[in-house]
Amino acid sequence: MTVPIIRRLAALRAKQSDWTRAGEKVGVVPTMGALHAGHLSLVEAAKAACDRVVVTIFVNPKQFNNPEDLANYPRTEHEDAIKLAPYGVDAIYVPDPDQIYPDGFASNVAVAGVADQMEGACRPGHFDGVATVVAKLFLQTGAHQAFFGEKDYQQLLVVRRMARDLDIPIEVVGCPTVREASGLAMSSRNLRLSAAGVKQAGMMHPILTSLAAELAAGGSFAPLGKQAEADILAAGFDEVEYLSLCSAVDLRALETAGGPDHPARLFVAAWLEGVRLIDNVAV
Ligand code: PAF
Repeated sequence: MTVPIIRRLAALRAKQSDWTRAGEKVGVVPTMGALHAGHLSLVEAAKAACDRVVVTIFVNPKQFNNPEDLANYPRTEHEDAIKLAPYGVDAIYVPDPDQIYPDGFASNVAVAGVADQMEGACRPGHFDGVATVVAKLFLQTGAHQAFFGEKDYQQLLVVRRMARDLDIPIEVVGCPTVREASGLAMSSRNLRLSAAGVKQAGMMHPILTSLAAELAAGGSFAPLGKQAEADILAAGFDEVEYLSLCSAVDLRALETAGGPDHPARLFVAAWLEGVRLIDNVAV
């Protein structure tokens, strides 16, 4: 079954008001396209929880701090629609750019606190772009629930904070990261790696999980993290931009894992073959 692609907000609103009138629960899966198994797991979670599911596809220029990254971002709308067909989603919303950023657009949603470190520090403006577009997608779809992958764990916390602060009546649901057999987290950016690069990238996850196990056993992050960074570089990565141990609740930096009452997570961003990969695991 082909899924209707909607490009104008008025058409989306017409559907949404029919659904709301019928008392149906609407779920949204916001994406930038180039869909992979990770996205499809979000669609499955949305289908299981909601009566109606909208997948949005919008490569949001406002969240790219690097023009080259924006230019190279894969755009695969036709293939994405084919991948979504078996899932029975109710609409694919691929807004024309003016439906998100009309002429003269001058607003910005900035989240402090959980947006300040790691991705926020390394990619200035990135989370303003994310929070702004996601706020618009929440309001435009009128969804009751939104589904995000834990692969972008910091983004998940930023979006949750934003929805809560702005009183947008939506529940932000986090879903587990989907991985290749090697442990490599699924990402649209993996498409830009060579076959050898994919193999090297797969070595990151075992390094992270064994660091997590050492931290869970009471080890301290400074020496263990240093060793893990060296291991990542030895696996063939060109640069480790950050490797951080943080509170899973508010992303405060930690020196030791805080025990079951204070869950911790390890976060990494590293470069390989000119591609920036991020990942995180629970400790
Ligand atoms: O995770 C993504 O693909 C994007 O950051 C999102 C949430 C769709 C906003 O553009």
